[in-house]
Amino acid sequence: MAYRYYKDNREFIEALRATGDLVTVEPEVDWDLELGAIVRRVCELQGPSPHFKKIKDYPGFEALGAPLATYRKLAVCLGLPADTPIPEIGRAYVERTEGGKPLKPKVVDRSQAPCKQNVWTGDDANLFNLPAPMVHDGDGGRYLATWHMVVAKDPDTGEVNWGMYRQMVFDEKTMVGPVLPFSDMGKMFFNKYVPRNQPMPFATVIGMDPLSGVAACAPSPIPEDEFASLLMGEAVEVVKCETSDLLVPAHAEIIIEGEVLPGVWLEEAPFGEYTGYRTSPRERRTVYRIRAITFRDNPILTVSNMGVPTDEGQLLRSFSLSLEMEKLLRSQGIPITGVYMWPESTHHMVVIGTRHAYTGIARQIANLVFGSKLGPWFHMVVVVDENTDIYNKNQVIHALSTRCHPVNGIHVYEQDVGTPLNPFATPAERRMGKGAKVLFDCLFPRDWQPSDIPILVAFDTVYPQEIRDKVLANWKAYGFSD
Ligand SMILES: Cc1cc2nc3c(=O)[nH]c(=O)nc-3n(C[C@H](O)[C@H](O)[C@H](O)COP(=O)(O)O)c2cc1C
Repeated sequence: MAYRYYKDNREFIEALRATGDLVTVEPEVDWDLELGAIVRRVCELQGPSPHFKKIKDYPGFEALGAPLATYRKLAVCLGLPADTPIPEIGRAYVERTEGGKPLKPKVVDRSQAPCKQNVWTGDDANLFNLPAPMVHDGDGGRYLATWHMVVAKDPDTGEVNWGMYRQMVFDEKTMVGPVLPFSDMGKMFFNKYVPRNQPMPFATVIGMDPLSGVAACAPSPIPEDEFASLLMGEAVEVVKCETSDLLVPAHAEIIIEGEVLPGVWLEEAPFGEYTGYRTSPRERRTVYRIRAITFRDNPILTVSNMGVPTDEGQLLRSFSLSLEMEKLLRSQGIPITGVYMWPESTHHMVVIGTRHAYTGIARQIANLVFGSKLGPWFHMVVVVDENTDIYNKNQVIHALSTRCHPVNGIHVYEQDVGTPLNPFATPAERRMGKGAKVLFDCLFPRDWQPSDIPILVAFDTVYPQEIRDKVLANWKAYGFSD
């Protein structure tokens, strides 16, 4: 079943305009910090996406900032009303990705692929001909790829991976960026291409349709080009690259083709990161040598500005990580009632609601999620009972502050996989990519007598039904507006 979706970035821009979630910026903006500063402020205000029509030094190029940095925009991208409540957006994601049949991408001819409208090879394939912004003051260079996906293929199985791995322009022909070893592309490159000293063909896709972007940054259990089809209900249209047999979304704005070089390292960073800090230092990182650039007429570069919440990485990673965790826990038969990550936690803290079926359930939950493929990305699990609304910050903070015993309820996991980007990690831990994790068990112990369990004093818990009904029925009559 095909859902309502946008075939390209341009249809999505029009949809955002229609819901009031887009502002057209007509005055020229400077790629050197001004554009980035606007996008940053939009993220901090949770505002409409800026569509920049003129970029200094780059006539003909446009940019879209903060394309998916609010739940409203995510709802629009899934074809739902902009004001759809968060749990319903989550249900749509789970229903589509669990219920549908993944479809292989549909290969189209280049004549049907707008991303082939312009082709630069040889000397023309020069990265400085693209309006890479200087996103934050203090960044180590201009970042071309901040909201994009890198396409690569397993050399043995042919399985395709789409993922987001930031890329800084190093020189006319070279980009550089971190590829974490536990990411899917990291495993493929470091475990297969590097030992064979074989360059890995890649294609960086900028300005793909928004659901392909959601798929690319999700911890998808299947190849992302098929995962995207579950979200759309239709196969993604792809076209063959100029210089390799990789397939890229045909309606994307800009494609940069080339090879990731084994055994070659160049310096990258610092950069404003998803945690809201500039943490990882300038270091030698993975090198992308480019061979061709193809793009649509009047290409629209998509730009994310990572920093303090909320940017699209924080929002979408929180969204898809928590829902994939929910699927994992349900598949193991754990009686959970929901899983949620606030984007403001920069997807470091996950709140899990459960029925308190047996002693040790909170530890079992934490062990499963920390031990899964998703584990390296977060380090706090908060387990609450089924009566706590996991989407309600007040209720979760109340549960954490009143039900989690500082000795018995907090369980520390000292050695674990982490990322070099954790601001709290010691410099040595960051260098090693080592993490530490903690479980906050907010369930009253099973072996307490019912009379030992304090009674929650709330409107819903301590008044008889007839009194609550009466008060609610008369609320306006008492003089309250809502
Ligand atoms: C905007 C954005 C930028 C990211 N940058 C990087 C990066 O530079 N390096 C990296 O290893 N992962 C990065 N990630 C996380 C990966 O995108 C993520 O691991 C991957 O897309 C999906 O996971 P998987 O393919 O490893 O399952 C980034 C995520 C987002 C949303």
